[in-house]
Amino acid sequence: LAQNERESLFIVTDFAQKYYADQLRTEEGQSIGQSYFKERGFNQSTIEKFGLGYSRDGWDAFTKHAIKSGFKLEILEKAGLSIIKEGKDPIDRFRGRVIFPINNVAGKPIAFGARILKKDTKAPKYLNSPETEIYHKSRIVYGIYTAKNGIRTEDNCYLVEGYTDVVSLNQAGIENVVASSGTSLTKEQIQLIRRFSTNITILYDGDAAGINASLRGTDLILEEGMNVRVVVFPDGEDPDSYVQKVGSDGFVNYIKENQKDFIRFKTEVSLQKVGNDPVARAGLISDLVETITKIPDAIKRAVFYKEVAHLLEIDESVLITEGNKLSRKRV
Ligand code: GTP
Ligand code: MN
Ligand code: MN
Ligand code: MN
Ligand code: MN
Repeated sequence: LAQNERESLFIVTDFAQKYYADQLRTEEGQSIGQSYFKERGFNQSTIEKFGLGYSRDGWDAFTKHAIKSGFKLEILEKAGLSIIKEGKDPIDRFRGRVIFPINNVAGKPIAFGARILKKDTKAPKYLNSPETEIYHKSRIVYGIYTAKNGIRTEDNCYLVEGYTDVVSLNQAGIENVVASSGTSLTKEQIQLIRRFSTNITILYDGDAAGINASLRGTDLILEEGMNVRVVVFPDGEDPDSYVQKVGSDGFVNYIKENQKDFIRFKTEVSLQKVGNDPVARAGLISDLVETITKIPDAIKRAVFYKEVAHLLEIDESVLITEGNKLSRKRV
């Protein structure tokens, strides 16, 4: 029975993906959805590659169509596509938004991210499908299906924050990119990426939130025994806005010139925060040592101790002694 329900969820989600993509070709879809994508610089083949769509600005267009096509209301609700409130007619979850289907590793749609079009409203910018039997947001990254071959051949995965970052980079010819989609990165997401490569380059937004999320992500990735680098974008830019601004070559160059191994990134960011205060500086050193102790590989640890010692002009043996103390405490 459970297997049947999963299968039904896959079928109805696939049905919805095709419906939203079709809606983009209607008059309303053209004048609102398609023109929104055009404004964002997405071309037709990009729209098709990602199966992007549009949900009409009404109450129940999708729900009615799906019922008419033979789907039961119960499965529409379970898939997160329809919302049922007691004593009221069921309504569509996604209304008047552009749609980004979220695919599993095999390329099947399992959920949706839906972006609002109007700027001046209190509604959330993105609305996502709820957790379902086929969609666990902490276990999937957006773009994994289009990215997996590229991640393997480049032996590196670019990790971005958002849907539009993935889409724009693909349009610029960079396919080995996935998004954590706003949620803070999880162990399961990192393990999914690790099926294709042990190297991750974090390309989060160039703002305080992005930098803090990069710091957190870094530790998690190291704990999984993977290698991590970080690129910080100019203030206010994200990979989407930046690649649209400087083009594909400019983007690739920027990454080449600005990618930092995690320890240099962490040291530089933290140094800016603590300045010359000796107590804060000591705290920072402990922090860096703690991060290094999370690396499973002893040779890598040795390399990074050397780098921190050099960057902070402190004796390497002090760092190693502290690190060993911490590791012992943990077991
Ligand atoms: P654009 O503004 O369309 O360029 O999107 P963005 O990806 O740059 O958005 P932002 O950097 O603000 O957020 C990054 C990601 O976090 C988005 O792609 C979403 O996956 C997620 N996110 C942002 N805002 C919301 C929200 O209001 N609700 C939910 N559930 N997720 C959000
Ligand atoms: Mn489950
Ligand atoms: Mn952001
Ligand atoms: Mn953006
Ligand atoms: Mn962004």
